[in-house]
Amino acid sequence: MQLTTERLDLVPLDVERDLADLHTMFMDPIWAAAAYAEPTADLAASNARIVEDYGDNVGLIWALRLHGSSRAIGLIGVYSDQGTSIRGISWYLHRDLWGRGLMGEAARVVVEHLLALPEIDGIEAWIDARNARSIGVARRAQLELAGRLPRRNLGEVSQWMVMARAAEPVAQAVVSIRPQLPVSDVAKTADLLVQLLGLQVIYQFGEPEVEFARLGVSRWNGAPVLDLQRSTEISPVTLGLDIGVPVDSVHEAVVAAGLVVDAAPADTPWSRREFAFRLPDGHTVTVSGASSG
Ligand SMILES: CC(C)(COP(=O)(O)OP(=O)(O)OC[C@H]1O[C@@H](n2cnc3c(N)ncnc32)[C@H](O)[C@@H]1OP(=O)(O)O)[C@@H](O)C(=O)NCCC(=O)NCCS
Repeated sequence: MQLTTERLDLVPLDVERDLADLHTMFMDPIWAAAAYAEPTADLAASNARIVEDYGDNVGLIWALRLHGSSRAIGLIGVYSDQGTSIRGISWYLHRDLWGRGLMGEAARVVVEHLLALPEIDGIEAWIDARNARSIGVARRAQLELAGRLPRRNLGEVSQWMVMARAAEPVAQAVVSIRPQLPVSDVAKTADLLVQLLGLQVIYQFGEPEVEFARLGVSRWNGAPVLDLQRSTEISPVTLGLDIGVPVDSVHEAVVAAGLVVDAAPADTPWSRREFAFRLPDGHTVTVSGASSG
């Protein structure tokens, strides 16, 4: 179905009709660098990109046109159906039209339309954390930060921001999960985790021996935390961490700190890279991040 905004007509994509216009966008190296993607080499490669991402998606992907023009100046819509009611969205605009609020305008209308469909109850945009314009578009469409994921793109490890909006917002009961680790030496364990993983000490108490420390993934209130509690009886547990920096650099730091590595870094079939090491009290820490390939 065609959608309309103040300045745009959003017409259901017709690859044959729109490919030549969209190719001039996908092949533009400056556009591609901003999208953290490779520019396409030729028309066939642009066609393959569209078909691969949106192939079976007729009706849920639109070409953008300025009123009164038939040029496809961009693309917005959800990725191919993977059988889930939460659908991933993306947006691409020709570089000569950036910065005029056009995609924000389109995204507001498209997201409202998609969330009104009975088969869709959530929209997610996975955006490279450095892509400020795209994050701005997501915010315009009232998508909010729901989480972060590690990724490897064009040979670099970075982070995706998962921006999301539900059709029917619900007040979630649990806002954060906060594991507590019993350790024999809180100060020493906290120092290690700060040094190896960049965790932040939110607060600690106990004099002269530290009894308790709360470590956060960042210093912001409400960020995920790990509590360390001094204990003399310790049953080792396993702690899983997702990281947004290269796994091998953390592994090197673990080795340099003289800790035991239980499993060396290796790529998993689910496109992650993981390794495991042991803390002085015997707790295992599994570290998972973007794969090396
Ligand atoms: C992302 C993209 C679609 C944005 O299109 P656009 O029409 O230029 O976006 P808008 O003009 O609506 O601006 C979006 C937000 O970015 C902000 N913005 C504009 N210029 C900016 C700049 N130079 N730096 C940072 N933010 C900027 C705007 O303030 C706006 O936020 P606001 O609406 O709250 O004011 C376009 O830049 C693009 O095609 N990039 C390459 C492809 C890409 O990265 N797609 C997203 C993949 S997840």
